[in-house]
Amino acid sequence: MAAKLKLFLFTCFVLFALNKEANGVLDTKTQTLINVANARGPYVGLVIPNQFEMNPLLQHPSFIASRLTIDHGGRRFRFGLIEGKKVIVVMTGLGMINAGITTQLLLSLFNIEGVVHYGIAGNANPSLNIGDVTIPEYWSHSALWSWQRFGKGPDNELPLEEPGDYTREIGYLRFANYYTSDNETACNATHDNLLNNVWYQPEEVFPVDGFPEIRQHAFWVPVDSHYYKISKALEGLQLDDCVNATTCLDEKPKVIRVLRGTSASIYLDNEAYRSFIFDKFTVSPVEMESASVALICHQQKVPFIVIRALSDLAGGGSAQSNEASTFTTLAANNSVKVVVEFIKILRFFPWMLQDVEK
Ligand SMILES: *[C@@H]1O[C@H](CO)[C@@H](O)[C@H](O)[C@H]1NC(C)=O
Ligand SMILES: *[C@@H]1O[C@H](CO)[C@@H](O)[C@H](O)[C@H]1NC(C)=O
Ligand SMILES: *[C@@H]1O[C@H](CO)[C@@H](O)[C@H](O)[C@H]1NC(C)=O
Ligand SMILES: *[C@@H]1O[C@H](CO)[C@@H](O)[C@H](O)[C@H]1NC(C)=O
Repeated sequence: MAAKLKLFLFTCFVLFALNKEANGVLDTKTQTLINVANARGPYVGLVIPNQFEMNPLLQHPSFIASRLTIDHGGRRFRFGLIEGKKVIVVMTGLGMINAGITTQLLLSLFNIEGVVHYGIAGNANPSLNIGDVTIPEYWSHSALWSWQRFGKGPDNELPLEEPGDYTREIGYLRFANYYTSDNETACNATHDNLLNNVWYQPEEVFPVDGFPEIRQHAFWVPVDSHYYKISKALEGLQLDDCVNATTCLDEKPKVIRVLRGTSASIYLDNEAYRSFIFDKFTVSPVEMESASVALICHQQKVPFIVIRALSDLAGGGSAQSNEASTFTTLAANNSVKVVVEFIKILRFFPWMLQDVEK
């Protein structure tokens, strides 16, 4: 009997202990910490894909860590000050789903006045250089597709196009255009490819002030217009150009505001596709998280901006060899430098914001 009771109690204990970890519901202790933190808000949320991009911020002399951290949903929300501005720093992990979940948790749990997302990116724009730090005005998710049946073309309606689920308005990629033969790309090939076409689709969005479950659509999501406007002041900022005493970028890197960036849960290292999306969409940074942050902030009506440092020419072909591995740290450090400067402007020159609001 005693053994059975012991086993029962042990099982209950294990279930209880597991329950705390295995269940996404907020426990009372976490909820209390969140309430305390929110009473001291609002905060600027810094959303960062990976450790190597977050660490230079945590080590930056302008970042003063608070003792408070709150763990929830497999994420760690770190509190602190940057130039006196209250911030919450959180790492998402790789890709669109992680970035979306983490951003939604941040906005659902905490008192957030705005979101700054930063990191490194591939480059699709031939007029920019490795090391440049880009601030795009618009972001899209470019991997929601309708993949068209072989034999159908641009004049054929897509499945579910009529009820408004899918559209031919954004454009398509034709695989047959990328046939290679005798080592040459046949860009106007007349032959077919069984992979046929993929059509880019907008996301379904459900804005916080809309009617629940009534969808809207969004492909290009603008960053906050006030944040974008004040980010112009970052353009003259001096950036580092050397990894060490001997390895430097050919061109002095610069902060530059650009028209567009695009994201997908795809590591893009392919010259043909990089050129295609540049020609089609005029995108500069290409990476794996920003559009998720953009789409969440857009739906929750929270101001956001994205700062991405170019660490490589996606697909290679630049004069700088083996870019991604060589310049990743430099690019990550420079993105942090620009973020700190942006927070400084938010903190000390709020009149810049008010000026725009009039
Ligand atoms: C990046 O910053 C860290 C400190 O945050 C420093 O240790 C490292 O040397 C820097 N690396 C480059 C390439 O600038
Ligand atoms: C095509 O590529 C092969 C292998 O890389 C090479 O041996 C050949 O000379 C190339 N042919 C032409 C026409 O460039
Ligand atoms: C298209 O193909 C024709 C015939 O093969 C060729 O002469 C022409 O240069 C090609 N045009 C382009 C833009 O590649
Ligand atoms: C500088 O960095 C490059 C690239 O990471 C590396 O190959 C080289 O050995 C480094 N040089 C010194 C002196 O540390």
